[in-house]
Amino acid sequence: MQPVLRFLKLIKVTLTNKEEKLNHVDEISTDKHATLSDETPEQKAILHRISKVEWYHTIDLGHGVVTPGLFDHRPLLPHYHLPENLKDMRVLDVATYDGFWAFEFEKLGAAEVVAMDIKTWNDIDIPPRIRSGASKEILDTEMGTGFNIAKDILESKVQRGIMNVYHLSPEWKGKFDFVFCGDLLLHLMNPMKALQNIHSVVSGCAYIIDVFNPEFGEDDSNAILRYAGGTSRMVWWNFGLGSLNKMIKDAGFTKVELLGKFEFSVRGQKEKHWHAAFRAYP
Ligand SMILES: C[S@@+](CC[C@H](N)C(=O)[O-])C[C@H]1O[C@@H](n2cnc3c(N)ncnc32)[C@H](O)[C@@H]1O
Repeated sequence: MQPVLRFLKLIKVTLTNKEEKLNHVDEISTDKHATLSDETPEQKAILHRISKVEWYHTIDLGHGVVTPGLFDHRPLLPHYHLPENLKDMRVLDVATYDGFWAFEFEKLGAAEVVAMDIKTWNDIDIPPRIRSGASKEILDTEMGTGFNIAKDILESKVQRGIMNVYHLSPEWKGKFDFVFCGDLLLHLMNPMKALQNIHSVVSGCAYIIDVFNPEFGEDDSNAILRYAGGTSRMVWWNFGLGSLNKMIKDAGFTKVELLGKFEFSVRGQKEKHWHAAFRAYP
């Protein structure tokens, strides 16, 4: 399976087979009870709230409850080489989804965390042939349900802001000391525009993490990428490591460091996908 997003998978499933979608939701809901046998009333209440959501991120909500996310980034944290602390920093989490990263940055002591995302699935770069087959109900689905529940349970101060990366600029909320953008570029028709806009709001450094294909070589001078053609999973690009590196530089960043490479899979899937983490300075 390609590196999918839950919401993209759901769009696809909804378009092709409604019944399959329901089965998928059942599978997730069953799973979330797996770790709790004797639930306290408090845990029951939290489980009830989180059962309404299709979780992308696996988030430890405390009280012994963890969201049943499609991806669990927790064991992979060392591969992201995050700073030891973000004390006094303004942080922007571009494309936050359920907010796993934004909540992590809050834990690292950031003075302010803005968790940015689009308003509805309508704002996703969906190829026309797929968009035309999607119902209005699906396209109008609001992002942020999981984020809001997690924020509430965690008693977090992270602020969610609606912003499309194509419109991101310093006019929105100024510049940020630390900007994080994970697994977004491959899903965009115009990743260069996104990188340019991200560059425009960075005062300290940006962490750009995305999927790459090791078959395209590891040499920085080798800027191969493959047009994936806007698949039904909204994967537009198959980047080589060198192309990601060059794209970040060509967006205006003056120094780009490859922090690490690691494999990552969808929960319960054997197939893994290579990710690269870059740190870039404006
Ligand atoms: C694969 S998830 C990545 C979630 C998170 N950044 C991570 O690394 O775990 C993609 C996210 O990108 C968001 N997104 C898609 N298109 C976007 C756009 N044009 N501008 C901003 N966010 C976008 C989606 O809503 C979703 O939250």
